[in-house]
Amino acid sequence: MTSYIIEPDRAGVAGEVGAPGDKSIGHRAAILAALASGEVSITGMGRGEDNRRSLGAAEALGAEISVHRGAGGGEALRVHGVGLDGLAAPRGPIDCGNAGTAMRLLAGILAGQNFGSELVGDASLSRRPMRRIGDPLTAMGASVTGREGQRPGEIYPPLSVRGPRRGRLAGLDWTLDVASAQVKSAILLAGLFAEGAVSVSEPGPTRDHTERMLAYLGAPVSRDKGRVTLDPAGWDRRLEPRPLAVPGDPSAAAFAVAAGLVAGGGDIAVRGVCVNDTRTGFFDALATMGARIERRNERHEGGEPVADLHVPASAGEGLRGAEIGGDVVVRAIDEIPILAVVAARAAGDTDFRDAEELRYKESDRIATTTEMLRGFGVEVEEHAGGFRVRGRGAKPLAPARVDAAGDHRIAMSAAVAALAADGPTRVDDVDNVATSFPEFPAALGSLGAQIRTVD
Ligand code: S3P
Repeated sequence: MTSYIIEPDRAGVAGEVGAPGDKSIGHRAAILAALASGEVSITGMGRGEDNRRSLGAAEALGAEISVHRGAGGGEALRVHGVGLDGLAAPRGPIDCGNAGTAMRLLAGILAGQNFGSELVGDASLSRRPMRRIGDPLTAMGASVTGREGQRPGEIYPPLSVRGPRRGRLAGLDWTLDVASAQVKSAILLAGLFAEGAVSVSEPGPTRDHTERMLAYLGAPVSRDKGRVTLDPAGWDRRLEPRPLAVPGDPSAAAFAVAAGLVAGGGDIAVRGVCVNDTRTGFFDALATMGARIERRNERHEGGEPVADLHVPASAGEGLRGAEIGGDVVVRAIDEIPILAVVAARAAGDTDFRDAEELRYKESDRIATTTEMLRGFGVEVEEHAGGFRVRGRGAKPLAPARVDAAGDHRIAMSAAVAALAADGPTRVDDVDNVATSFPEFPAALGSLGAQIRTVD
């Protein structure tokens, strides 16, 4: 088990870093490239274990993948897509590791196949609820079964998925009861193999990378307010083998931005970050709290808006508490732990509401975030649907010993909080950072933070 030791330094942090390839977009790139009718080049794919699981699944289903040097000198993947009718039965269970997105998106694809597949995951993934995809996919005519567990009526991995015995899946008109891009995506991906149209209505604006990438590859996707439809009528059922570029991950960039805010020092810049509106809740929340993050050099790459982020040295001064709820929470769902760290440095209370979904992430993030903050001496109150953080303003945090509980985002949030403490902090069980941001300790170190990884 690996730990981080962080020694805060009065000089704070400053400098410029890149962000790893966006994890959500990387999963979709791996899966959709495998289904394209020809060779697809992918640039910018993150090196995290989660994305490797999706690439491994693509290979297990018959797509060949090779690594090349890309045009700009970076690495490019070449995926030989097999076409929508070309997937092969995997030889054994597909291991999704810690990646809930990989499992839920793959279930959508596998629901349309005439062979059966088994999806397995690590201990954390095996505790995550899967009925949210099982119900709609079953309603389309697939068979999705899982393990019974903690909650009656719920299903958990391993999952067995197979398409209908005869013919294609049926179309579906589905309303999500929780705002979940993974569930929306599983249905849209199953829709690639359906006879009729699939429509998904969502209660809040969840990330839209699946529909963007499907449209970019030529699939008949349309959007009307909160409802996305994939209607195959008249479509030749081909995904065009167009090149895919994965922009930087705003959920990873958030740690460098927050480091600047909580530790001060100098300006921080993060290059090439995806600024799709469905992902920018963290930055909107910071603006409400009084911290303005500038966007420079805004552009489009591979169907997604991208910008360089700039955090002025003074941005963390004058942070104030705020009410964080509704669509901001949906659009910042993975950034709530690090936003809570920023809230601990604000003047006044910050209330996080409408955040029940955090209980079903890599850990119960309401429990792990509040426990982590308490470790730093911050007063926190849990309530139904969220928690309230009593900001300490400029008062330093207490040095802590934190158990990251195997959750990458808790580990990285604690490491950033440690920069605002008045003594050294130890964060245990941080190996899981490799799932999304293996370069994290090096990136934080390059900004001047004193962080060491120890076994
Ligand atoms: C993701 C969607 C979100 C997010 C997860 C990635 C995706 O999950 O928390 O990290 O790539 O679609 P839900 O859709 O379950 O909210």
